[in-house]
Amino acid sequence: FDFAAPTNEPVLSYGPGTPEKAALKKQLAAFKAVEMDIPMYIGGQEVRTGKTVDIRPPHEIKHKLGHFHAGDASHVKDAIAAALAARQQWADTPWEQRAAIFLKAAELLATKYRAHTNAATMLGQSKNAYQAEIDSACELIDFLRFNVHFLSEIYRQQPISSPGVHNRLEYRPLEGFVLAVTPFNFSAIGGNLPTSAAMCGNVVVWKPANTAVYHASFFMKVLIEAGLPAGVINLVYADGPTIGDVCFAHPDFAGIHFTGSTGVFQTMWKTIGNNISKYKTYPRIVGETGGKDFVLAHKSADPDAVVTGLARGAFEFQGQKCSAASRAYLPSNIAEEIKTKLAAELKTMKMGTTEDFTNFINAVIDERSFDKIAAYIENAKKDPKAKIIAGGNYAKTEGYFIEPTVIETTDPKYVTMCEEIFGPVLTIYTYDADKFEEAIELVNGTSEYALTGAVFAQDRYALDLATQKLVNAAGNFYLNDKPTGAVVGQQPFGGARASGTNDKAGSMLNLYRWLSARTVKETL
Ligand code: SER
Repeated sequence: FDFAAPTNEPVLSYGPGTPEKAALKKQLAAFKAVEMDIPMYIGGQEVRTGKTVDIRPPHEIKHKLGHFHAGDASHVKDAIAAALAARQQWADTPWEQRAAIFLKAAELLATKYRAHTNAATMLGQSKNAYQAEIDSACELIDFLRFNVHFLSEIYRQQPISSPGVHNRLEYRPLEGFVLAVTPFNFSAIGGNLPTSAAMCGNVVVWKPANTAVYHASFFMKVLIEAGLPAGVINLVYADGPTIGDVCFAHPDFAGIHFTGSTGVFQTMWKTIGNNISKYKTYPRIVGETGGKDFVLAHKSADPDAVVTGLARGAFEFQGQKCSAASRAYLPSNIAEEIKTKLAAELKTMKMGTTEDFTNFINAVIDERSFDKIAAYIENAKKDPKAKIIAGGNYAKTEGYFIEPTVIETTDPKYVTMCEEIFGPVLTIYTYDADKFEEAIELVNGTSEYALTGAVFAQDRYALDLATQKLVNAAGNFYLNDKPTGAVVGQQPFGGARASGTNDKAGSMLNLYRWLSARTVKETL
């Protein structure tokens, strides 16, 4: 096995006439032509309950892609039992053999199933071809390959020995099962959370968001084809509270790998805390939660770079990235130019289905999300402190479509400058160009989150000042670039404060959380 640092999976272009575009079009049509019947996967068995939930593309809600079989508490219990039954053999499997399964899964995604992984994400989660490619192909492949490499680096780290004494660290998996709870917004995160824990020798109960089951179930089949033994990862679709009630009451609960909302994470943490004396071991709690990510421009910034950073950083995948720019602080000397150019740029972004590759904007994930985002826009229309300067229209007849919307406010603490919206809404506040330090204070003091942020300046001292003063304001901090699009192996990803435990996804820092080392001292 080659555990040397891999290179990132190249991003394919899907331009006119390319073979990857033809293959993807064909797979989109193939997926749409059948109604998929999607089981849970528990202990290597496909489980169908008959209690089905329909799956529809968010951009074409009249079309049915299929349905999944929903489970209840008994299925969660079965999943835990299957995981625990598989645990010892999996933990005893030489790690190079475990690694081979995940490397094979990466290879299958990169070659045989590249069109499938992207088509599933495009239809199930309404991502355009490029956004799907960087997520469900490249990032997911990278997570699998780089985590194998990082783990090999961890296993090599050993304590020193001394004359007559040999010391070693054994990197055991956790004693119990790990619960992976994954979001809709990145198929790569969906795949990473269960596999990173499993790669370390852990057994996993995986609960994906209902809105991402279409891709999650596809990826589960890839793992099985790659040779994942029965029971190592068990995919269940039950509602969050049921999963929590069963998993967090179990004495073998050993950790949670979570990406989702801050509120849900805090509720889980409290439940785990209340049950702490029931567990055999202190559970590892790893979560990536919300964000209210900023763009701060200095008076020396290149206005065109800021426009590009905002257009892409705030509106790719309809702003549904935890890393998406959602509050911008513009200096008065260039604010008008940036706003005018940004509004013009947004007009060029076509909105519609993902099957039409010319559309940049697709639908938001579901009706609940649509209604929540629309309410923020409606409130802004009525509020004297806010003005819509681009977009502002929405409709849910064919799918959940919301125009990329820019709100301008005179109040730096206006509600859309503070609350996470998770949609295509950016709010702009203009500050006095000569008061950069005050703007930095606003960035720092406005949000409890600290996930990503970007500073644009051509003045080196301005960049340095912001970098120093905003030291705790973002776990991923970008200079003269948009705050989204972290690449595995290049920008380890995660934030602190209300944004999570900052156990950087796609790095050794994350993998350490799924290992429980034993120190062995042997007298020679
Ligand atoms: N890693 C993604 C990004 O950087 C967010 O999860 O955009």
